[in-house]
Parts: sequence; C-alpha cells; structure tokens
Amino acid sequence: MMSVVRVLGCMHPALQPFVFKRGGIKVQNRCVLAAMTNKQSHENGVVSDDEVRWLEARAKGGFGIVCTAATHVELDGKGWNGAFGTFSDDFIPGLRKMAKSIKTHGALAIAQLFHGGVRAPEDLTNVQPKSASVHTVAHDVTSRAMDEAEILATIRAFGEAARRCEEAGFDGVELHGAHGYLISQFLGPKSNFRADAWGGSAPARHRFLASIVNEVRRQTTAKFLLGVRLSPIQAATGTTLEHSKLTVEASQDWDLDFLHISCWDITEGASMGERHQRFTEWCAEWNAGRHPLITTGGIWTAKDAENGMAQGADFVGVARAGIGHHNWPACLQEGATAPPRPPFSRSHLSHQALSPTFIEYMRRWDGFVGED
Ligand SMILES: Cc1cc2nc3c(=O)[nH]c(=O)nc-3n(C[C@H](O)[C@H](O)[C@H](O)COP(=O)(O)O)c2cc1C
Repeated sequence: MMSVVRVLGCMHPALQPFVFKRGGIKVQNRCVLAAMTNKQSHENGVVSDDEVRWLEARAKGGFGIVCTAATHVELDGKGWNGAFGTFSDDFIPGLRKMAKSIKTHGALAIAQLFHGGVRAPEDLTNVQPKSASVHTVAHDVTSRAMDEAEILATIRAFGEAARRCEEAGFDGVELHGAHGYLISQFLGPKSNFRADAWGGSAPARHRFLASIVNEVRRQTTAKFLLGVRLSPIQAATGTTLEHSKLTVEASQDWDLDFLHISCWDITEGASMGERHQRFTEWCAEWNAGRHPLITTGGIWTAKDAENGMAQGADFVGVARAGIGHHNWPACLQEGATAPPRPPFSRSHLSHQALSPTFIEYMRRWDGFVGED
C-alpha cells in the first residue's frame, strides 16, 4: 500500500486516471488529444484510412481521450475540404472503424460535432451560409438568417449525428461551441441579433446550444458522454468574459459530462471588474466543480500541463504537441525529456502517422513544418 501511495505521489497529475460519474466510465489518464481538422478524409464525407491511422497512433501513444476533427452534422455545415461528415447513416461503417481503432488501445473515443454556420464556405456547400442572423462575421461572407424550422432541424441533426456516433461505438461527443462556428454564432451578440426566442438576451442566445444538449441526450443512451467546447472570449462574435460567465453558469443546469475551454494559450487571461485571472481559472470558478473541466492552449511540456491543472482543470488538452509527438503523454513521466518543439521535418511528421495532405495543411501553421 505504501509503495502505491509513493508511486501516485510522484505521478504527474495528468497521468492519473479519472472516472466519469456517467456509467462509471474510466479513463486511463487526463491527457486529451484536442480536436484537429486534418483534411485527410474523402470529399463525400466518408472517413479515410489516413484519418483513422493518425488518430489510432495517438490512442496507441497513450492519450486517455482522443477527440476527432470537427465533423459536420449537416451537409451545409462543412467547413473544410477533406472533412468527414456525420450527416448520414451511410457514414456509420467508416465511423465504426475509427472508433474501434481508437478504443482498441484503451483510449476513449470522442467525436467533435460541428456546423460551420457563416464559416461553411459556399464553394464547399453550394449554398449561402446560414447563421443566427444576417452578418459578416466571416469577413467578406454574408450569412442568411435561419428560420425557426431550420433551427429546429439543425438541432435535430446534431442529435442524429450523436446517435450515429454512438451506434458506431464512440464513447461520446463534444459539441463545438468555440472558435466562431454556428453554435458560437448563436452565443455571440455580434452574430445573433434575433428578437425571437433564440436571441435578444443571454438565456435566449444560449437556447440553441442548450436545445442541442437536450436533443443529444434524447437520441443517445444514458451511458453516452457529452461535452461542450467554448471560447472564453471571441472578438468576431462579440463574446466577452461576461458572456462566457453566463454561459458557463447556464451550463450548470445542462446534463453534461465535461466542459472544454479553448484558451489558445493557457497562460493568458482577462480582467472582469477589479480582478484578473487566467481563462481556465475564471472557468473553474464559474463552474464550481460541477462539470469536469478540460483546458487547452499552448501546452507543450510537463510543466505546462501541471500549470493547466493547477489552474483548476481536470484534464489537459493538446493539439500541436500531439501532432509532433504521437505518444505525448509519455513526455509527462518522471525523468522524461521535454518534447522537442517545431519546426518538424516532413519525415518526422510522416513517422508520426500524418499523410502528405495533413503535412501540407500544417504548412499553414507558421513555423510548424521545416525543410527536410
Ligand atoms: C491543425 C489544427 C486543426 C484544428 N482543428 C480544430 C477543430 O477541428 N476543432 C477545434 O475545436 N479546434 C481545432 N483546432 C484547435 C485546437 O484544438 C487547439 O485548441 C489549438 O491548436 C491550441 O492548442 P495547442 O496549443 O495545443 O495546439 C485545431 C488546431 C490545429 C493545429
């Protein structure tokens, strides 16, 4: 017994197991591969072997939770070439292969459900992008406002996508309410000017997301995990810290298994009134322990991960570190060396199970891909 205590005593907090209240679902550690679009799937929305291979390598590399790229729940929500979809039962066989290959290695498989809203480009969808209101949040693109029937249909589509993911063997889904896509366009006052039940006040702007949460619960079983990802502040949609406080407080009444705060840099924060705190600290304070909290943004080393958890997170998410190091959780073990940072050579990335398409996409991230 003594030795177990000693081992746990020096174990990195992000390597300790966690048990979700829902169904007592266990996760081997608190390391989350955050959702990453990688453009590797087929244009018709079918999951490709490359997309499966890259996620499987992260599960094999020891991540407790592996989250997929954002997957569009309706055809008109597609955000990128090579994104896989969840808008039809035809996708279930591919999703099944993906979920199985992640779970085989002991990780939980979570699919990130998404609709691009005004940020679903017309050249991918052949239709004018829809959103909460008419606005130009996505620079030179003008959205059209969804009517009530369309709002209800999109809410149902999120539920159906979750049902497909569960049928395919996923452990749960994360609703992408961050980064200015459709859910955050409903949340933000600069992209939602509605005067009906879906806008005009904070509770009305929350209603779209809250309704999706209820719909996912309606279409899935009692053991299916459900989380929400949020941006703490966001200029484009006019989301301030005060708005996020209200959203996180509202989420206390939602039947969720986790909240995921997308900080981009966990060392950053903002002031509200007289007080300044980092984003994770604010969210942990508003959340008051109600939902397990994931924080992501700029985590690279064991110390960074410790910092995220010390701010009140229960899990740490990594994106870019997980691209460069498929077995990033091993870097948290005592005595492990700090994981090298970008630039990464093409051959290194290829050994990390990225296809040429994904490597090419990563060239858009400043300084990530070096020359061989
Ligand atoms: C290539 C790439 C694709 C991304 N795609 C998504 C996505 O589909 N959904 C999402 O919520 N965030 C996405 N993000 C944001 C990451 O999940 C993460 O929040 C961000 O990269 C900051 O974490 P990091 O510093 O560990 O990279 C993406 C990031 C990268 C690098």
